[in-house]
Amino acid sequence: MRPGGRFVTATLITGASSGIGAALALRRAAAGATLHLSGRDAARLDVVAEACRARGAAVRVAVLDVRDAAAMAAWIGAAGRLDLVVANAGISAGTADGVAESAAQTRAIFATNLDGVLNTVLPAWEVMRGQAPAADGVRGRIASIASIAAFLAVPGAPSYCASKAAVDAWTVAAAPAAAREGVRLTSICPGYIRTPMTDRNRFPMPGLMEADRAAALILRGIQAGRVRVVFPWWLGALARGAALLPASLVARLAATQPGKGAAPDLGEPAGE
Ligand SMILES: NC(=O)c1ccc[n+]([C@@H]2O[C@H](COP(=O)([O-])OP(=O)(O)OC[C@H]3O[C@@H](n4cnc5c(N)ncnc54)[C@H](OP(=O)(O)O)[C@@H]3O)[C@@H](O)[C@H]2O)c1
Repeated sequence: MRPGGRFVTATLITGASSGIGAALALRRAAAGATLHLSGRDAARLDVVAEACRARGAAVRVAVLDVRDAAAMAAWIGAAGRLDLVVANAGISAGTADGVAESAAQTRAIFATNLDGVLNTVLPAWEVMRGQAPAADGVRGRIASIASIAAFLAVPGAPSYCASKAAVDAWTVAAAPAAAREGVRLTSICPGYIRTPMTDRNRFPMPGLMEADRAAALILRGIQAGRVRVVFPWWLGALARGAALLPASLVARLAATQPGKGAAPDLGEPAGE
């Protein structure tokens, strides 16, 4: 991807204050590029913004909760031309020790990982369908960060798996209609990436990858116009294969692994 080139002119990323979102922001940061970055933690967001400015990018930050649909629509609608939008913000938590997820955790995960993605993608799509197309006929590109967890319903993380499955299925199914309007949708399905989200995990993470490497693969897949990007491919294939097994067998196999604990702090959506 060409830093400063047509494709990178204006990029908007949610969850840019940490992990994969921060790595994506740094990779998009170059002279001539504009970055719109959001997250909830103003201090961490500012650190990422400063690092991007040091690389020559013009950076505008917004402290926003992706669950706030009106605020998200206002932010995205006021951003001006958008060449790339990444709906990245997300949370993960599970059911360690076989204890059911609380209602609050279930709702927080769906609200952030599913509603938060829709609160980003739908206004971005609206902006992009009104933009002039670039030389390649593309008006804009939107990526949603799902997960390989979308492919296998693991009892240790019901809401996480289900929210990511919904994001992946919706993005892939909506992509052809978006493409007819000149907007490219991509579902991103990473395996394990080293970020604060996975730092809490106390179980084996096969294929664990650094966030910068993940960001490179994500951006390469988006630029190639792929509808779904899965990496590492073999972990995606394993998850797809395991999903063909009886659910009771998957549950028994999963029970042999330590689970991910409940979310330490679910936060409350703005206005609640
Ligand atoms: N790490 C992995 O192995 C992995 C694998 C597959 C998919 N993913 C997905 O990749 C995305 C990024 O995860 P990560 O690993 O980079 O995690 P991370 O380091 O914990 O970063 C999560 C980001 O999401 C933001 N966020 C969370 N809730 C938010 C909310 N309600 N409103 C606005 N921003 C919110 C956080 O912002 P604040 O901290 O400022 O609140 C933070 O910037 C997530 O969607 C995750 O599910 C991760």
